[in-house]
Parts: sequence; C-alpha cells; structure tokens
Amino acid sequence: MQLLDALNWRYATKKMNGETVPQELVDQIIEAAYLAPTSSGLQPFRVFAISNAALKEQIKPIAFNQGQITDASHILVFAAWDNYTEDRINTIFNHTTTQRGLPAEAMNDYKNMLIATYIPRPENQNFEHAARQSYIGFGMAIAAAAELKVDATPMEGFNGPELDALLGLTEKGLKSTTILTLGYRDTPNDWLVNLKKVRTPKEEFVTIID
Ligand SMILES: Cc1cc2nc3c(=O)[nH]c(=O)nc-3n(C[C@H](O)[C@H](O)[C@H](O)COP(=O)(O)O)c2cc1C
Repeated sequence: MQLLDALNWRYATKKMNGETVPQELVDQIIEAAYLAPTSSGLQPFRVFAISNAALKEQIKPIAFNQGQITDASHILVFAAWDNYTEDRINTIFNHTTTQRGLPAEAMNDYKNMLIATYIPRPENQNFEHAARQSYIGFGMAIAAAAELKVDATPMEGFNGPELDALLGLTEKGLKSTTILTLGYRDTPNDWLVNLKKVRTPKEEFVTIID
C-alpha cells in the first residue's frame, strides 16, 4: 500500500535544508486538510500558509527556537474556532443547503439540535471540540506531505497565545492548535533521519475482537 510506504518514509524532520517546496505541492497538502472530515461538517478550523521569511523569523522564538520554522519552505498554522456560535453554525448549514440546491430549511432539525447542544456549553469545551477537528486536517496534511515526498514536522511546541497575537487570530475568533513545517530534510545534519522508527508493540496497540 503506497500510503503505508509514505508513512514509513516520513519522520518528524528535525533539520531542513532551506529548499523551496513548489506551490502546487503545498496546495495539494492544504487540499488534503480541506477535504478532511469533521464533526457535522462544520470545518471549525482554518489554515494559514506562511512562506514569508521575516514572519517565520518572528515565529521561531514563539516556537522555542525550533530551527525547522525558518529552515522550512512553508509553515502551515492550524487554528480552530474559539467557540461555536449560532451565526457560525447557521452559515455552514446555509452554505451546504445552497450548494446542494436544497430548500433553506432542509437541515433545520439537525442544525437546531447542534445549536441547542453546543451553544450552552462552556467556551473552552467548544474550543477543545473544534481543536480536535483541526487535528484531523493536520493528520491528513501530514499524510499528504509524505505521499508527495515533502518533509514535514508536526509541532505543538509553541506558545499558542503569542502566535495568536502575532497572526491576529484572536480578532478572527481563532486559536492556533498546531504547526506543520514543510520542506526537505537536510540528511547529513539531521540527527533523526537514520534512526529507526519506533512504535508501541502492535499487540499492545491493537486489540482484535472477532
Ligand atoms: C501533535 C504533535 C506535536 C508535535 N510537536 C513537535 C514539536 O514541537 N517539535 C518536534 O520536533 N516534533 C514534534 N512532534 C513530532 C513527534 O515527536 C513525532 O511525530 C513522534 O516522536 C513520532 O516520530 P515520527 O513522526 O518521526 O514517526 C509532534 C508530533 C505531533 C503529532
């Protein structure tokens, strides 16, 4: 299976060589995140694709000086909705019914059930739910990059509130959840590149119930 070959090839790249990833490949990686399934199809996250060198320099200290931030060609910042609102949920369902040529009220029962469930909940519970959806897109992007032989580092090692302030995410009702750096491995200088990929023993990981 080609996907498994790609997943074995990829690793959390520690040192990148500064080469530029062609835009069409970056676009395909973003497309994979865009096509990710999400709970009720709300897609409660956004992706910021950053190649600007000066901005990457500003992000590096926020990401604990991890060198991949500036050695990468692009970094993708995943950011989730800070909360669910009636307006956000209505917008999604209006878009879906319009795109499918359905009457505006066709999905009202389901939409109203979601509004009744999500809106009374604490903001942080809704953000955490939205953040989980962002990780689905993040995972898809990781797999897509591997399939395209683009190296990537998944990252949670950054100060979220500082990144949110720098990118103006708070005003947009978003909070950063993850970063995916995209670039090409610097094989002679990456301490991880030749180390064995290690995972929990399979029999501990999976339980077969026949
Ligand atoms: C959500 C998440 C956050 C991570 N954060 C970082 C990070 O900040 N910096 C880093 O170098 N690696 C980070 N990693 C990489 C993991 O350490 C790595 O994926 C794991 O050890 C498995 O190794 P592999 O990806 O090389 O197969 C992160 C991975 C994930 C999935």
